Amino acid sequence: MNIDAVKDFAKNVLKDDATGHDWQHALRVEANAHKIAPHDLSNEEIEIIRAACWLHDTIDEKIADDIRQTPEDVRTVLKENNATAYQIEEILYIIQNLSFSKNLETKHELSLMGQIAQDADRLDAVGAIGIARTFYFGGHKGSPIYDEVEPRSQEELTVANYRDETSVINHFYEKLLLLEDTMNTEAGIREAKKRIDFMKAYLEQFYHEISTS
Ligand code: ADP
Ligand code: NI
Repeated sequence: MNIDAVKDFAKNVLKDDATGHDWQHALRVEANAHKIAPHDLSNEEIEIIRAACWLHDTIDEKIADDIRQTPEDVRTVLKENNATAYQIEEILYIIQNLSFSKNLETKHELSLMGQIAQDADRLDAVGAIGIARTFYFGGHKGSPIYDEVEPRSQEELTVANYRDETSVINHFYEKLLLLEDTMNTEAGIREAKKRIDFMKAYLEQFYHEISTS
């Protein structure tokens, strides 16, 4: 596959995003995947993971309508850049099924490559960078930092109501702190745990500072 051309396509789509799903996010996800991937993958498989990481948000409903691409657009780019039929099917399946929201009601089974890309994306939702992205996204949406509303339980969350207004702090409880249990790979689980422990310490300090008593 002409991997540099696929990378340029993704960069072009994501470069102006202002929701925390910009090109730097895609680059970090690819770097995370590199850190957690086993060393015995074939070149064909490594290309699938890298392309899936760069492309995973290019078709997502979260990003602005005017930059969002369709899966068919991505298929065309991959074809034009000599991806194999296997790579095209894998990449399209991964980017259409890895997201947290996609897996709220039905758990989609992913190949090892998909599991690595999913873990890599989830690692960027936790830790110091995860906190930064969540406040950034909340600001973009006009959500309050915190309020008196209780966070929703996992049973209450559906694909339809997941995007409803919630405070940034509630988003920690509705999604971010729970990501540890959704990680696939050993290395991903270990790193997620460290990052989530940091978030818990952050929340403790946060409550200490906003306490009125
Ligand atoms: P996925 O792409 O896996 O479905 P999300 O759609 O939840 O995940 O979005 C990715 C990131 O956007 C989250 O990790 C978080 O930083 C931010 N985000 C999403 N929803 C909210 C929200 N309601 N409040 C604050 N941040 C959010
Ligand atoms: Ni992402």
